[in-house]
Amino acid sequence: MLSCSILILAIAPVIWALDNGLGKTPPMGWNSWNRYTCDINETVILNNAEAMKELGLLKLGYNYVIMDDCWSKRQRDPKTGRIVPDPEKFPNGIENMIEKIHNMGFNFGMYSSAGKYTCAGYPGSLGHEEIDAKMFAEWKIDYLKYDNCFNQGRSGSPLISYQRYEAMSDALNKTGHPIFYALCQWGEDQVWNWASTIANSWRVTGDIYDNFNRYDIRCPCETYDCPSLQGYHCSIMNIVNKATPLVQKAGPNSGWGDMDMLEVGNGGMSFDEYITHFTMWAILKSPMILGNDVSSMSREHLAIVSNPDVIAVNQDVGSAPANRMWKKHFVDGFVHLFSGSLSNGDWVVAVVNEATEPLLEMNIAFSDIFTDNHDNEKYTWVAKDLWTKETTTAARYLTANVVPHGTQVWRLQKSMHLSHNKNYWVSLDNAEYE
Ligand SMILES: *[C@@H]1O[C@H](CO)[C@@H](O)[C@H](O)[C@H]1NC(C)=O
Ligand SMILES: *[C@@H]1O[C@H](CO)[C@@H](O)[C@H](O)[C@H]1NC(C)=O
Repeated sequence: MLSCSILILAIAPVIWALDNGLGKTPPMGWNSWNRYTCDINETVILNNAEAMKELGLLKLGYNYVIMDDCWSKRQRDPKTGRIVPDPEKFPNGIENMIEKIHNMGFNFGMYSSAGKYTCAGYPGSLGHEEIDAKMFAEWKIDYLKYDNCFNQGRSGSPLISYQRYEAMSDALNKTGHPIFYALCQWGEDQVWNWASTIANSWRVTGDIYDNFNRYDIRCPCETYDCPSLQGYHCSIMNIVNKATPLVQKAGPNSGWGDMDMLEVGNGGMSFDEYITHFTMWAILKSPMILGNDVSSMSREHLAIVSNPDVIAVNQDVGSAPANRMWKKHFVDGFVHLFSGSLSNGDWVVAVVNEATEPLLEMNIAFSDIFTDNHDNEKYTWVAKDLWTKETTTAARYLTANVVPHGTQVWRLQKSMHLSHNKNYWVSLDNAEYE
């Protein structure tokens, strides 16, 4: 008996996450907010879903279509107590729209707030968790983004926030219908420490803004340790700097640190800046939720979000977010080195150039990439640049050339042990990396 139960314990997969079977990898999809804010209706949602399918984005993994705030009437139904979809925005009914989304092959995502109202002032679900969850399950939704507005002061400590978000987690579970549960609690009350047992993902930072690194007082904190005012209008470098330590609490057995919806295609950043944005979200294992008008996106922007090699890093089953190994002053910014292992033994390495000057021929030492795995330094690695698709074989260091505000990212595949390489001793003598 005893040995039998020990055996079962030993072979059972370790899961510390919310156990609803979802979120093995970060979710991918589209959300209406960044582009449309409150200006949504069934045409907008269905047109974007159709465009995603036509452009091949569904096939690439973008399989959640998420409708954000402003979908309901201002008051609950006085008789049933239920939230009422706005009949003008959804003349054919919300369930009809959801069915169409499902028939296209997508999952459907809904929005509410753990507060008296949603952020735009529509009915929120605080105190109505069970009735709302039941309705969402009847509608067969697959994802719930759960915001933090009008929380009536039930925040300011991890336990209070935890309990407020736990109520919806329990209510969703009770419906028996698996629903990806995405906390949008803006990274307050150290959500990264407590969300994994009740949610599949949790926002680690304030609301994104379509800008590379502009300072904005509405996003007041520059570092992660910002307990009560994460704010909004956060540039992508502000988010990267804050999220980098926080996503280390995320991973395949817990859930995902959400750096907010993508801005690619909304026009506020250059091509190279969007490359940095997309690459960072991918390797830090953020959910990858598009936030633009997909039906009118340029080929350039489509190419960014369609890069299968970068998506493969984000969707690699079983691997954790990459780490930042260092950050060094360069001209008017920093150069950042990120490194992370993938489940098949490959590594992902990224160099971000935050400055307005090009970074030329910087040698990135393997000892910095493989800080915790020094044995890897004794191999040559085949390095594929995931944007240019060029492949090189590297020993002891990689050479980075990065455009201003850009990012170079490689996938490294282990090749040969240096002792099998006749140039090994020569290269030892000529160590030329920094
Ligand atoms: C939805 O909004 C768009 C753009 O504002 C508009 O052209 C369209 O007619 C609206 N559709 C419905 C069903 O209200
Ligand atoms: C509800 O929670 C239990 C226990 O964690 C889990 O086994 C089950 O799959 C959950 N059901 C849903 C629909 O999330």
